[in-house]
Amino acid sequence: MQTVVSGIRPTGNLHLGNYFGALRNFIKMQQENDCYFFIADYHSLTTHPTPADLHGNVKSVLVDYLAAGLDPEKATLYLQSDVPETTELYLFLNMNAYKGELERVTSFKEKARIQPDNINAGLLTYPTLMAADIIIHKAHKVPVGKDQEQHLEMTRTFANRFNRLYNVDYFPEPEAYNFGEQLIKIPGLDGSTKMGKSEGEGNAIFLNDEPEVIRKKIMKAVTDSGPKTEGEPKSQAIENIFALMKALSAPETLDYFEAEYQACRIRYGDMKKQLADDAISFTGPFRERIKEISSNNAYLSKVVNMGKEKAQASASKTVREVREIIGFKKF
Ligand code: TYM
Repeated sequence: MQTVVSGIRPTGNLHLGNYFGALRNFIKMQQENDCYFFIADYHSLTTHPTPADLHGNVKSVLVDYLAAGLDPEKATLYLQSDVPETTELYLFLNMNAYKGELERVTSFKEKARIQPDNINAGLLTYPTLMAADIIIHKAHKVPVGKDQEQHLEMTRTFANRFNRLYNVDYFPEPEAYNFGEQLIKIPGLDGSTKMGKSEGEGNAIFLNDEPEVIRKKIMKAVTDSGPKTEGEPKSQAIENIFALMKALSAPETLDYFEAEYQACRIRYGDMKKQLADDAISFTGPFRERIKEISSNNAYLSKVVNMGKEKAQASASKTVREVREIIGFKKF
């Protein structure tokens, strides 16, 4: 049996990028693996949320996990901050993580550009905390979207470095995983290549968005003036609409609009209307279950406590063994 670990930062409800890049695979993988899925609340502190926002966002992700079909009896569902053992492993890994390599990480450079007044040490060491999350359960597979590929590379570097430094074969090499396919990136509605919470209003469709909100966002999505000649390559914005349709609509629908595009007959208004209908029916069941689950605080608390216990058992065993390997011995 393989061990699977992954997490999502709590920034509010999950969007379709999170779903197709990560959550969908969590659900598939929980059947046949030893899975640990958590909410990365320590990680979210790099952007300084208020206490009320932090708690609310953690709850939203927990509810979305359950609404999407994660089964707390099959997978271990927990909050990162319920397993403080992770921070001890993070400290150990930080002792062998170098400023130069951390500064070269794309997500660090990007965050430093977006928040120049808050380039904190947590941001710089984000990949070592993420590596600790993963290797604390000695994971083999990590279901994530394409944007996390470099973090997984760093995780392998840190795991291998630990093994070499102490001359042990302790941590396995975890790999980024998308159920036998390439890692994916779901584009945004604003013409940008990534759907994301921080990319601005109207870029993302959230699992709990009401139908009229989804319709409005999609009808406003950026398009162009249409192809003039056969075989004309698609602009980025149009590639994005097709990519979203590939994720959400039936294959025949996609084929129909592809043929219309190729014949220079396409009407983007019709395409977006279809995409909106499909996005609304796709998210419908999530919306219903999110409403149902979010009012059931007793159930949420039971799930969190159960996950905490299982995750701590696995994490404390690793940290105990790592301490021994490093040379912290009992007197
Ligand atoms: P985060 O919270 O930014 O995103 C959560 C997951 O959603 C995926 N994702 C996407 N996939 C495809 N297309 C998109 N547009 C898109 N947007 C987001 C991300 O790839 C990710 O899988 N560092 C992580 C959280 C984390 C973690 C970990 C993940 C902390 N520790 C350990 C795995 C293992 C993050 O910020 O993801």
